[in-house]
Amino acid sequence: MNIFKRKVKKTVLVCCGTGCLANNSFEIYKGLKKKIEDLAVNVKVRPVVKATGCNGLCEKGPIVTILPDDVFYCGVKVTDVDEIVENTVLNNKVIERLLYFDSAKGKKVRSHKQSEFYRKQLKIALRNIGQIDPGNIDDYIERGGYSALRKVLFKMSPKGVISEVERSGLRGRGGAGFPAGLKWRQCAEMDNFPKYVVCNGDEGDPGAFMDRSIMEGDPHSILEGILIGAYAVGSEKGFIYIRDEYSLAIKNMTKAIEKAAERGFLGQNIMGKGFSFDIEIVRGGGAFVCGESTALMASIEGRVGEPRIKYIHSTEKGLWGQPTVLNNVETWANIPVIINKGAGWFSRIGSKGSRGTKVFSLVGKVRNTGLIEVPMGITLREIIFDIGGGIIGSGKFKAVQTGGPSGGCIPESLLGLGVDFDSLNEVGAMMGSGGMIVMDENTCMVEVARYYLKFLSEESCGKCIPCREGIKRMLEILEDMCTGKGREEDIELLLEISETVKEASLCGLGKTAPNPVITTIKYFRDEYLAHIKDRRCPAGICRELTVYYIDRDVCRGCGLCRKGCPTEAISGEIGSRFTIDTSKCIKCGSCKEICRLNAVKVLGGAAE
Ligand SMILES: Cc1cc2nc3c(=O)[nH]c(=O)nc-3n(C[C@H](O)[C@H](O)[C@H](O)COP(=O)(O)O)c2cc1C
Ligand code: SF4
Ligand code: SF4
Ligand code: FES
Repeated sequence: MNIFKRKVKKTVLVCCGTGCLANNSFEIYKGLKKKIEDLAVNVKVRPVVKATGCNGLCEKGPIVTILPDDVFYCGVKVTDVDEIVENTVLNNKVIERLLYFDSAKGKKVRSHKQSEFYRKQLKIALRNIGQIDPGNIDDYIERGGYSALRKVLFKMSPKGVISEVERSGLRGRGGAGFPAGLKWRQCAEMDNFPKYVVCNGDEGDPGAFMDRSIMEGDPHSILEGILIGAYAVGSEKGFIYIRDEYSLAIKNMTKAIEKAAERGFLGQNIMGKGFSFDIEIVRGGGAFVCGESTALMASIEGRVGEPRIKYIHSTEKGLWGQPTVLNNVETWANIPVIINKGAGWFSRIGSKGSRGTKVFSLVGKVRNTGLIEVPMGITLREIIFDIGGGIIGSGKFKAVQTGGPSGGCIPESLLGLGVDFDSLNEVGAMMGSGGMIVMDENTCMVEVARYYLKFLSEESCGKCIPCREGIKRMLEILEDMCTGKGREEDIELLLEISETVKEASLCGLGKTAPNPVITTIKYFRDEYLAHIKDRRCPAGICRELTVYYIDRDVCRGCGLCRKGCPTEAISGEIGSRFTIDTSKCIKCGSCKEICRLNAVKVLGGAAE
């Protein structure tokens, strides 16, 4: 049916999150907008093209969605623009080629809601992302934006707001899972002004992009949450701390602040209710430790970003020694929904001790990488195999790492674990801010522990000795293991140092840094022993502990590997079997990559 007859307003949504932008989505957006505007002369119903934030399925981007029919196109190119407008926008014809292939169903699906990737998700913090233009405040308002602020200012007392947030069971999404309502109450009870509210948008975990996506895709939801928090605790000044690399997040948050001020949601006497509030953005220099609340506040004050001892709560003495509430981006984004839908509604979602949903950036060796939001309590298996579509290629699942660089690695036997703050802690991992990295059988768990310890040793601020020296010593031991110099007693030594670093470090960085080591020893001790006793890396990753060879039964003598070898380590005649001289081989891996028959094997590796 032609849309001119139906008179249904169409909307074309083009994802302009960082992932899709990197794949030219802004050109697609401009192309669609121009084509549709050019056609406007003759059309009665004019589709609207909006540049939205991240849709979640970044790997399949650029994503274009056509509403109201919810036709979901992936991997769109600039050259597809004319076809999309002529077929789908004007004539409701679906372009099969661009539809999303759902690997779980084994077929293409027309709407993203039909896919397994979205079916098990529940979007609260991400409710508007991919649906609105983050630069357009009216888009946010159309979807109920700023109605929670209105409700709070007109109908609720600050104490009432705090009770509502307490009853919702919302725990901070930035890592420790501290109850948000309790933090607010502690600050509200302080009779010391001025008070401050802070939004932690530092997001230093490598590979994580949950908070960035919310700041880029729905900045007003964060602002509205902060305004509600400020009203509840009696603050008139707030700060949003964003790492400097997040340029789009800074741009979109800055614009949102300007627009909110223009509409009277920020500034003096908001909505005529006598509440005044102002907010500014502070750019972080990119140190991981500056995500820690006390280091972050020191950084805002212009001091060196070092943590301090926390025997005095920030709610008592935070920024400039004044009472301060600091919450994570995702925590703030949940607040307007809790106010609008009620604590009862929110607390019915999730598991007993962890209410609501959690946003994860699902990455690694999983088919559908991207941004997901799931109810707390969902199992790891559901996340990785239903939403994530399982392991890429023919590989087998080995472990999943949650909680950022100082999180833990969880093995296959625990895939049935319901994911929440407490269950993850119980198995030695943690929620962190929501990084989830899936690893397959070709991952060396000793190397994984080494990698994270390296990162943490570089990011430790050095203020306290257990963290500064302890992490370094552990790293040295792991480096020895990965290069064939490990000793049997090193495993116990690692565990002993881990205990001290955990116990004696000053801040959360040191206190959690040993987690990757402890969990990999706990669940993958065999791999440590193979490195130490057999001088062998079972996954074939640690170069010193592997040997490259050509399987004579598979090799057909094409000679491609010899051409690609930088050290002339491969010899043989075309048509005969080729061999590798291990004394010349530098284990660069190019022969393995080049060989189409998979004849190049790594001794000690999964490919044996
Ligand atoms: C080393 C380190 C880095 C951290 N990085 C972040 C971060 O990037 N974002 C964040 O929200 N919280 C981070 N945290 C947790 C914060 O200290 C703090 O607990 C959190 O921001 C409080 O907000 P919430 O209660 O809403 O979770 C980090 C903690 C540590 C120890
Ligand atoms: S635990 Fe590490 S990061 Fe934290 S204060 Fe001590 S040295 Fe700095
Ligand atoms: S791993 Fe690299 S150096 Fe070794 S044989 Fe193959 S191509 Fe040559
Ligand atoms: S950036 Fe487009 S789907 Fe994530």
